[in-house]
Amino acid sequence: MLDLSRSGSGFCRKVSADFADPLLVYSKWGSNDQPLLFASRKFPAWFPHRRGANVPRCHLPCSCLCKIACLYIPRPVLPPLISIPSWQSGLLHSLFAHLSHLQLLSHTSWQVLGSRKLERMAPQVIKHKQVVLAANPKGMVKETDFRVEETETELVVQPGSNDVAVKLLYISLDPYYRELMAEEDVLGFGLYQIGQPMWGGVVGEVVMSENAEFKTGDIVLGHLKFSEYVIVPKGQGLQKVDASQAPPSYYLGVLGMPGFTAWVGLKLIGKPKNGEQVFVTAAAGAVGQIVGQLAKVYGCRVVGSAGSDEKVKLLKSEFGFDDAINYKEEKDLSASLSKHFPEGIDIYFDNVGGETLDAVFKKVNLNARIALCGAISQYNLLEEERYGMKNLFYAVPKCIQMEGFVVSKFMGEHMQEYVKEMSGYVKEGKVKYKEHVTKGLDQFPGAFVGLMTGQNVGKSVIYV
Ligand SMILES: NC(=O)c1ccc[n+]([C@@H]2O[C@H](COP(=O)([O-])OP(=O)(O)OC[C@H]3O[C@@H](n4cnc5c(N)ncnc54)[C@H](OP(=O)(O)O)[C@@H]3O)[C@@H](O)[C@H]2O)c1
Repeated sequence: MLDLSRSGSGFCRKVSADFADPLLVYSKWGSNDQPLLFASRKFPAWFPHRRGANVPRCHLPCSCLCKIACLYIPRPVLPPLISIPSWQSGLLHSLFAHLSHLQLLSHTSWQVLGSRKLERMAPQVIKHKQVVLAANPKGMVKETDFRVEETETELVVQPGSNDVAVKLLYISLDPYYRELMAEEDVLGFGLYQIGQPMWGGVVGEVVMSENAEFKTGDIVLGHLKFSEYVIVPKGQGLQKVDASQAPPSYYLGVLGMPGFTAWVGLKLIGKPKNGEQVFVTAAAGAVGQIVGQLAKVYGCRVVGSAGSDEKVKLLKSEFGFDDAINYKEEKDLSASLSKHFPEGIDIYFDNVGGETLDAVFKKVNLNARIALCGAISQYNLLEEERYGMKNLFYAVPKCIQMEGFVVSKFMGEHMQEYVKEMSGYVKEGKVKYKEHVTKGLDQFPGAFVGLMTGQNVGKSVIYV
């Protein structure tokens, strides 16, 4: 436990045990402030306002030495114990030693991750890595369907171009990429091309800008190619995010598309009422974890389904689900649903489709709502292997309201409302958030296959 209460500033704060094992401590934030910045080995798991951990705000500083979310301790909270005038790792080590001496930090597992200069990057040709589509998957996606290759980019933004250069920090791994790897563009969303970089949701840091809306050091969200550095013409599609409110990767999850998906499906389509029975599948994933916790906030009883005992435990102990099912261990899904829903199901949030959706048709109550969010059980099957529904006809006598939705359709109208609502829940500790972070762009193929086979526990992201 790191106790900062002796600052004498009126801010008496205790930092949770998560911070007992820092990876990095450094100083010099901004021009006239000298806070200390901490990054925890468990950085993906914490949030500044999580329950029971009244810790200061967190930042990903534009000048970060390494690309990780950091704890920002404002100056009044902890007066500088040691002043670091420059970015020198020797001095960082002095700082560690000093803090250790004061018994504020354990010194056993410190590690300086390397440094990066604060100032604007100079135009240069850089060698970096990108993820390209190697093959259209047939059935289950394989690591060999991707290739991580080296590429060269002239990192320059021309004066007057409005262009922005972004260094990727996090890549979101989303199941829909699987559909974009197909040969036939059934959805009309466009497809990845063999030999060309894949793209999707990312968070990055602006490293050069000729655009008045973005400055060096801004943290931005966008749909960019999976390449360590990307020049974004006219900064199109980029959106600044407030890294003082949450770690940047949260904007790919709980404060971004997957969290919003959960909210749209549950609140707008499911229309939950106090005391109703909610069932959600892929419950320990990016969308599912938020669905279940929101259902609790809205006063419902919620049962989640997930593919391992570890996930089942997480749902109940960490996310507050009333019950959870390891569907891989259930021989009779229908009987299992009867057991877990003696009063029937009022709302089903469907992330998996197939056999589970079919079983649900029999178990839902009159006027039930089904939010058709995804069908991951079917994405990696050949067309002839896909599940054929047997119980759909119950939709008529049970007056089921069933709606398939694509979240992007709702963003313009509702995203701000969502972020406001969800930020409040996260700050109050009503909603917790778990990420599954894989380090390194090289690991993209394995991490994506992992997402499709349930290896992820929580929202899957690549830390580039
Ligand atoms: N409609 C929209 O706009 C929208 C937006 C975002 C996401 N989605 C959909 O929402 C669903 C969840 O996405 P996510 O980003 O939150 O992913 P996720 O749940 O974080 O990860 C995918 C999970 O799916 C489960 N899964 C994989 N194969 C399965 C199978 N055969 N049967 C049952 N479960 C299986 C795995 O968990 P287990 O260990 O539990 O098997 C895996 O961890 C996906 O279907 C996705 O396409 C839709």
